[in-house]
Amino acid sequence: MATYEGFAELETKGWSDDTISSGYVTMFSEASDMAIPSILASIGSNERVLDLCCGQGNVTEAIAKAGHLVTGADFSTKMLSHARDRFPAGEFIEADAQDLPFDDGSFESVVCSFGLMHVPDQPKALSEIRRVLKPHGQFIMTSWCGPDVSPVFQVFYSCVQEHGDPSVKMPDSPNFHQFANQEAASSILSDAGFNVETQQQIDCFWVLDSPETLAEIFQNGAPRGGYLLSQQPTENNSAIKAAVAEKVRERFGHGDKWHAPLPASLIVARAS
Ligand SMILES: C[S@@+](CC[C@H](N)C(=O)[O-])C[C@H]1O[C@@H](n2cnc3c(N)ncnc32)[C@H](O)[C@@H]1O
Repeated sequence: MATYEGFAELETKGWSDDTISSGYVTMFSEASDMAIPSILASIGSNERVLDLCCGQGNVTEAIAKAGHLVTGADFSTKMLSHARDRFPAGEFIEADAQDLPFDDGSFESVVCSFGLMHVPDQPKALSEIRRVLKPHGQFIMTSWCGPDVSPVFQVFYSCVQEHGDPSVKMPDSPNFHQFANQEAASSILSDAGFNVETQQQIDCFWVLDSPETLAEIFQNGAPRGGYLLSQQPTENNSAIKAAVAEKVRERFGHGDKWHAPLPASLIVARAS
C-alpha cells in the first residue's frame, strides 16, 4: 500500500500552522458547521461518543450539549487549543486517528466530520475506529462532495488547472472526495468491516462578503488549498485568484453577498 509520506507531512505541517488552523476555524468552518444538525440526528440517546479529528471542537460541543458523553480527539495541538478555548468543559485528547489511545469497544458511536480525507492510512484509521466501537456500533462521517457535484470545488480546481504552474503538484494522496461517491465509500467501508446504512447530501455553503474571499479561504484555511496556492509562482497565484473571483461573480452572485455552495456527504455506517 502507498504510504503517502509527502501527503502526511503536508497535513501535519498544515494543521500545526497558525494561519491555516486559525483560517480553518474563522473561515472554512462556516460551511462545516452546517453538517452538525444532521450528525446529531444520527446519534441515539445517552451515548458514549468519540469525535475523531475534532479540530476546534464544534461537533464535540454540540454532541455534549445534546446530552451524550463525548471525547474529542485530534492530532493537532493548535486545533485542540482552539477546541479548549471554545468549549472549556469538553474532554479533548491529542491522538492520531491511525493509532487511537482507547480500549476496544469504548464507544457506541464514532463521529469523524471532515476528518478522514486528511488521514494518509485510511484503512488503518478505519480499523482503529472499528476496534474502539462496541459490537455493531455506528460510524458517522462527513466529507466534501467533489467537482462532479460541488460548485465551489468546480470553480477552485478548474482555475488551478487553467492558471496554475503545471510543475506545482500535490503529493500523492487518497482521493480527497472518494467518500462522497456512494460506490467507492461503500466498498472502502465494507472492506473495513462496516455496512453503510445511509448516505445523504447536506447543503453546506459560504456567504462571502467579497468574490476574493473564496480563494482566501482555500489559501489560508485548508492545508491542501494552502499548499496548491502558496507553491505557485507569484504571477500564477495572482492569475488563479483573479479567475476564482471572476467565477464567483458569474456563478454565485446574490445581492451584495456571494452564496457559494459546497455540498457535503454524510454517511452512517454500522460495524458488521
Ligand atoms: C477539516 S478539520 C475538521 C474539524 C472539525 N471536525 C469540523 O467538522 O470542522 C480536520 C481535522 O482533522 C485533524 N486531523 C488530520 N489528520 C489527523 C490524524 N491523522 N489524526 C487525528 N486528527 C487529524 C486536523 O488536525 C483537523 O483538526
